Amino acid sequence: MHILLTGGTGLIGRHLCRYWLGQGHRLTVWSRRPEQVPTICGTGVRGIGHLEQLEAGEQLDAVINLAGAPIADRPWTATRRNLLWASRIALTEQLLSWLGSREQRPEVLISGSAVGWYGDGGERELTEASPPVREDFASQLCIAWEETALRSQAQGIRVVLVRTGLVLAGDGGFLSRLRMPFKLGLGGPLGNGRQWMPWIHIDDQVALIDFLLQHKDASGPYNACAPEPVRNREFARRLGRTLHRPALLPVPAVLLKAVLGELSVLLLGGQRARPVRLLAAGFTFRFNDLQSALDNLSSQL
Ligand SMILES: NC(=O)c1ccc[n+]([C@@H]2O[C@H](COP(=O)([O-])OP(=O)(O)OC[C@H]3O[C@@H](n4cnc5c(N)ncnc54)[C@H](OP(=O)(O)O)[C@@H]3O)[C@@H](O)[C@H]2O)c1
Repeated sequence: MHILLTGGTGLIGRHLCRYWLGQGHRLTVWSRRPEQVPTICGTGVRGIGHLEQLEAGEQLDAVINLAGAPIADRPWTATRRNLLWASRIALTEQLLSWLGSREQRPEVLISGSAVGWYGDGGERELTEASPPVREDFASQLCIAWEETALRSQAQGIRVVLVRTGLVLAGDGGFLSRLRMPFKLGLGGPLGNGRQWMPWIHIDDQVALIDFLLQHKDASGPYNACAPEPVRNREFARRLGRTLHRPALLPVPAVLLKAVLGELSVLLLGGQRARPVRLLAAGFTFRFNDLQSALDNLSSQL
């Protein structure tokens, strides 16, 4: 298969490239730093800076669309919001317009999203049939990102939307940010720690994207999170145990709100999301419970 990725140099993209290279697929990554793609994604992965570098006659079987500026890195100032929007919505629009110009189109577009699509769901159990609960900037961004990608259905392309939870990996993402405060004994629950955290092990994230690629009847949104979400304080307790450090110091909600502004909703709110459609489709998670996922990654933390 020839697969085109956006965001292929990111955490999820790098792992996907490694897996698919091993499966013998041909990979192209559309990137802002195409010359670095073979180093980051693996020898044999082609980096392109412009979509037009793909020849019209070149067969393309699938597109994986993951590019986007990091959402939790800094407060959502007006400039930051514009960048977060442009790097997902405008980039996806550009991708679709290029796909529309091609005679040969891929069978499937798998496009990124997040469980943040639902907003802060409180205690509600969220399946793919649930509407957004409480809209904030992150949910509006995900809603617009999904709506943009879905327009590709009119181009005769199967569209899959991956509503990803917090990805747990040993080489980047959420855990690498928590590692240092926890190792210094400064880890602990955020706010009252009751908010739900849908998480997923990176190996399951890769496996489910591959599953959705292979299953030709898969389309629409899929919650990409393990079947057993945990509350934030349970997450902190288990991470502390994995790192052999106490995780008792709560970070007050008022402090997070004062420092981060609206971005604090990402940390103080949560989603009790369940991967109902993946389970119904027959996908088997390797890591169902948080402790098994953390134990598996502990040597890299
Ligand atoms: N990791 C998670 O826990 C998680 C959870 C929920 C949703 N997601 C979403 O899933 C997608 C992939 O996640 P990830 O963790 O693999 O992301 P990541 O490591 O942050 O990488 C995203 C990629 O997007 C591209 N990018 C970054 N800033 C950009 C900008 N300003 N304009 C255009 N492209 C830009 C970069 O590719 P180049 O440098 O090659 O251009 C980067 O490698 C993201 O959109 C993320 O929001 C991730």
